[in-house]
Amino acid sequence: MQNVFSNVERTLITKEEIDERIKELAKQISDDYRDKNLLMIGVLKGSVVFMTDLMRALDINCKIDFMAVSSYGSGTKSSGNLNIQMDLRKDVMGYDVLIAEDILDSGHTLSKVKELILSRKPASLKIVAMLDKPTRRKVDIEIDYTGFEVPDEFVVGYGLDFDEDYRNLPFIGVLKPETYNGSL
Ligand code: IMP
Ligand code: MG
Repeated sequence: MQNVFSNVERTLITKEEIDERIKELAKQISDDYRDKNLLMIGVLKGSVVFMTDLMRALDINCKIDFMAVSSYGSGTKSSGNLNIQMDLRKDVMGYDVLIAEDILDSGHTLSKVKELILSRKPASLKIVAMLDKPTRRKVDIEIDYTGFEVPDEFVVGYGLDFDEDYRNLPFIGVLKPETYNGSL
């Protein structure tokens, strides 16, 4: 079995930097939601590493739920269509919902997810994204909490994949260009 980790060209954000930033975000979110009814919704699969670290760093209670969506095929460009592969189990009505996303790229995925959840009447709705690639934005969308801004490069690790690989890398990295095989 080939070791796909050898395709990582360099580290963009270290595990230590991620841990530090998660502590800061968790403090801010804990303060903002102290008197609220927090329901964190993870957008699978990319957000899972970030969200599980973030929720454990909070000093308030939260409930969690997940939905699985995709706006990609196996390639790396977003299409405008949202494909709901798994919906929420919980009714969001009355909850202060915080959507956790891995990365905001074109914004297509999150704006569709946001629209869908808003239509179900939560008490409030905010978004936390681990990464933001602002130069790639196609849709106007506001994020309430951001981990890091990243340049226009395809990144992997800490939940983020390329063709379902690299999600369990403990840091955020960039792949060697030849890895993409012209699919970017
Ligand atoms: P958007 O709809 O273009 O904003 O894309 C959002 C989704 O695309 C994210 O939730 C990721 O799953 C995926 N994505 C966007 N950029 C990257 C990247 O650099 N690496 C890995 N996945 C990415
Ligand atoms: Mg993905």
